[in-house]
Amino acid sequence: MKAFLFGIILTLFVLASGGYFLLKSGRVSFNADQAPSATERHLAMSAVDASTERNAPEQKNPVPTDEADLIAGAQLYLNHCAGCHGLPSNPESPFGRSFNPPVPAFFKEAPDMPENQNFYIIQHGIRWSGMPAWSKTLNDGQIWQLVTFLSNVQKLPPSVLKELAPPAGAALEAAPAAPTAPAMQMH
Ligand code: HEC
Repeated sequence: MKAFLFGIILTLFVLASGGYFLLKSGRVSFNADQAPSATERHLAMSAVDASTERNAPEQKNPVPTDEADLIAGAQLYLNHCAGCHGLPSNPESPFGRSFNPPVPAFFKEAPDMPENQNFYIIQHGIRWSGMPAWSKTLNDGQIWQLVTFLSNVQKLPPSVLKELAPPAGAALEAAPAAPTAPAMQMH
């Protein structure tokens, strides 16, 4: 019995120190242009889903699906989210594809979580991904307007789609422009 317990402890110790060695010796890649393994993807995605389900407070969206709120949501989306999550005219931008985990392209696949969970994710963001927390820059009313917008993203009326259309004749700027001159040196 003693030998058995010792075996278990030794195995756990070897596994833990092996993992520690892999991380500390730089053998685990953190590159955003390298897709994670299926195991990492599965573990991370189900952990984020479980945490969101557990922590998002049960609350009803106070923002109705009316034209004024959808337009307000579209403007917020255009200013804060479209660069990563895409637009009807450009559902998957090269910038949006520069992330792992990949940025969900909402005009190809609408978010399918309950509204209280979308609210929670927009408010708090998702650590170790590109998804920022918006609670410091947007108020609750604005976040609910975004939630209403996302719930209707596949059935937006023409007046709202017009807000998201690129200006006539303008080339769509999908990603932040790369700096053309070397940045100023900091000393
Ligand atoms: C810098 C890029 C970036 C910006 C800007 C951004 N997001 Fe995200 N967002 C992401 C990434 C990356 C994920 C995926 C994270 C993951 O899979 O764990 C994500 C995930 C989400 C999700 C969860 C979707 C799902 O189905 O799991 C929602 C909802 C969301 N974002 C809404 C927004 C809203 C609303 C805005 C604007 C206020 C916004 N995001 C701005 C990168 C961004």
